[in-house]
Amino acid sequence: MTGDDLQALARKALEEIARVADLDQLELVRRRYMARHGGLITSVAAELGGLTGDARAQIGKAFNAAKVTVGDALAERQRGLEGDGAGAGQADEWLDLSHPIHPLGRGHEHPVARTIREIEDIFAKLGYTSVAGPEIEDDLHNFQLLNMPPEHPARDAHDTFYLTGTGSGWLYRTHTSPMQMRTMLSGVPPFRIIVPGKVARRDNPDPTHNPVFHQVEGLCVDEGVTVGDLKGTLEHVARELFGADRGVRLRSSYFPYTEPSLEADVACGICKGAGCRSCHGKGWIEILGSGMVHPAVLRNAGVDPERYSGFAFGMGPDRIAALRYSLRDVRDLYENDLRLLECF
Ligand code: DAH
Repeated sequence: MTGDDLQALARKALEEIARVADLDQLELVRRRYMARHGGLITSVAAELGGLTGDARAQIGKAFNAAKVTVGDALAERQRGLEGDGAGAGQADEWLDLSHPIHPLGRGHEHPVARTIREIEDIFAKLGYTSVAGPEIEDDLHNFQLLNMPPEHPARDAHDTFYLTGTGSGWLYRTHTSPMQMRTMLSGVPPFRIIVPGKVARRDNPDPTHNPVFHQVEGLCVDEGVTVGDLKGTLEHVARELFGADRGVRLRSSYFPYTEPSLEADVACGICKGAGCRSCHGKGWIEILGSGMVHPAVLRNAGVDPERYSGFAFGMGPDRIAALRYSLRDVRDLYENDLRLLECF
């Protein structure tokens, strides 16, 4: 091996490096010339050991020069190929900062959220405070304190989701009424509150039922509160929500925690009272339960029923929204189909 041989080898290596198309091919060239053992250039190092004097100096110099030239060329080509990869596709992409953006759609409140807010506004003007309560409740607050002991048949109407097997005590609240108890137990009368929130029951979905729905509970306890106050309040709220000419009726009902009990119905807006699928053929849709708070419930809450009286109600804002916006099916409210929701 002479210095010229080494120069010729280096030139060949540079030509091959220039021709490779990708990093894999470049690696093959690197190994052929520069592998630690057996590379065409690197193996010359072994020959140097057997040389002396001028020959050793001359070939040593050429060897070092070839190693540096080829090493640099390999590194540079590698940088070039890596850069190509990262930049692939850039040629046909472009960025025009002056291009107009797609107009951003403007969102709005969900019909149920809006209905709840409007209910809160109506009651705020009557002096009610809106409070929130826990969605996971215990049997005591959801049932027992509300005059529904474990064997009470009214519990059957609340197809309850129990958290860890029936009887564990923890459940997903079936109504917002437990907040009546929590409020009264943690304060002194008078009370004027509403409680909007989510509740759940193991109901089969149909045009007026969904297993998860909303309620707005209400409680008014003070000295001298009468059924007349309850009736006046409910009629006022119904007029505010549905307008003065929409039919509203009160009829007697039963709840273990009220005596007497009333339910309020609103005329079905789909059939105008004639009876259709949306109102189960009745012409009316129930929107709330209510009544005068049962003396036993007041006593359970530490409120003296001889001195105080009150009324309570629980309304369904999903149904109220469906009625106000003439939806045939409450379930449409939960499907998040923007084509429908954008109509409101
Ligand atoms: N908790 C009842 C229900 O879920 C609604 C209700 C009825 C609430 C009468 C009340 C009430 O506060 O007094 O069906």
